[in-house]
Amino acid sequence: MNDYVLSIDQGTTSTRAVVFDRSGAIIASAQKEHRQYFPEAGWVEHDAAEIWRNTREVISKAVTEADISRSQLTALGITNQRETTVVWDRETGEPIHRAIVWQDTRTQSIIDELAESDGVERFKERTGLPLATYFAGPKIRWILDHVEGSRERAEAGELAFGTMDSWLIWQLTGGRNGGIHITDVTNASRTLLMNIDTLDWNHEICEAIGVPPAMLPEIRSSSEVYATAHERSGIEGVPLAGILGDQQAATVGQACFSPGQGKNTYGTGNFMLMNTGEELVHNDQGLLTTIAYQFGEQKPVYALEGSIAVTGSLIQWLRDNLGLIEDASESETRAKRVRDHGGAYVVPAFSGLFAPYWRPEARGVLVGLTRYVNADHICRAALESVAFQSAEVVEAMNASASEELTELKVDGGMVVNDLLMQFQADILGVDVVRPEVFETTALGAAYAAGLATEYWASTEELSQNWREGARWSPAMDPEDRQQRLAEWKKAVTRSFDWVD
Ligand code: G3P
Repeated sequence: MNDYVLSIDQGTTSTRAVVFDRSGAIIASAQKEHRQYFPEAGWVEHDAAEIWRNTREVISKAVTEADISRSQLTALGITNQRETTVVWDRETGEPIHRAIVWQDTRTQSIIDELAESDGVERFKERTGLPLATYFAGPKIRWILDHVEGSRERAEAGELAFGTMDSWLIWQLTGGRNGGIHITDVTNASRTLLMNIDTLDWNHEICEAIGVPPAMLPEIRSSSEVYATAHERSGIEGVPLAGILGDQQAATVGQACFSPGQGKNTYGTGNFMLMNTGEELVHNDQGLLTTIAYQFGEQKPVYALEGSIAVTGSLIQWLRDNLGLIEDASESETRAKRVRDHGGAYVVPAFSGLFAPYWRPEARGVLVGLTRYVNADHICRAALESVAFQSAEVVEAMNASASEELTELKVDGGMVVNDLLMQFQADILGVDVVRPEVFETTALGAAYAAGLATEYWASTEELSQNWREGARWSPAMDPEDRQQRLAEWKKAVTRSFDWVD
């Protein structure tokens, strides 16, 4: 009888469950979107209870669609949107506030206060991260500052903090009835609270930010058997054996196991990670130092990361806020109707700008308008902004690495967009390559779980599963490329000018 691995991918816009076989092929999958709350400008929230309900639902649908029995599932892996912060009551199992999403900028005043001594690099040496609204620690502090009585309760150990991995694992393993409270090193590395070298919570930083250690989960490796699923999960008894933040999961799913190998994921935002091996590399080009993965008792593997906040969510914005398109694929159809961008540039600095600038005050701009520019040009400029932002991250990676990138491995929802992928190759001047299975995020979490349970024997075996699916080669004249990049950079400076 064949057996399989189940993966849960809890992302920014939806939750998916995917069943994989040994070759890394998808046998069945189910997906459900959850509501996005925007209570104020710059604020983004999720309902963690809704996400838990959706998780159970997609598990059940995927298993039914795969037409397999529970006993054929050898392991369960979890991957998740990183940094999104949930605080819940251990006794009732209820979140005490809606989850604050990674894109949310409400903690800017906390960041400014923390940066008063020693600037935004205050904790960089210890955590690999600059002070920014992006990370979880300041979001916890905001919740404790705003929910009455919560700080005392957190100090007394009555409240628990978790990113989505911790929240779901606690639920899947029993919730109020004995759920375990853990996270993995990759997720913990995005809190601003973990020592990037020793992989444990830094109590001094916890105190400086205002986070009681009693509410933090235990930090574990990304691949080991943590527990078995509780009956409330619908897959009772399946070993829960892998946890990775989604961008790290995509790195594993793309089989980037050697130093110098990297990938770029096109999701709500874009995130490029490059494996730097067992070496912890600090960076001054606007890249983050993060954990790529840690398999069981092996040493952790590090990565440099270029995080871009708004790419796929810009296309959603064209759909939901401007009504220019009805679905994401229409952005390509419209962009193809015109021969170029018509002079327009969109800089989607909706959450400030992340890598390589880290300018929280930046705001979105649309420049280069003339009477000639129409909605098709704007769709095209929006898609081009995705590629331009990634080109700037690649520039920072090249400046940081010993050798320049020779091709870019890509994955994520937007890589079905042919116009975008061609423009990405054009603007980078190197090939862009998509694997056959480009659901690499879910695949990476399955790999982590399957390695722990010996479903897969080694990373070499996983590398053999990687097969090229599509390739785009640069066709743009180098002079045009230079000019377009220079114009893009000029447009970016306009997004800084907006707020003093
Ligand atoms: O750091 C945020 C990232 O993990 C979100 O990923 O794929 O949900 O946009 P995604």
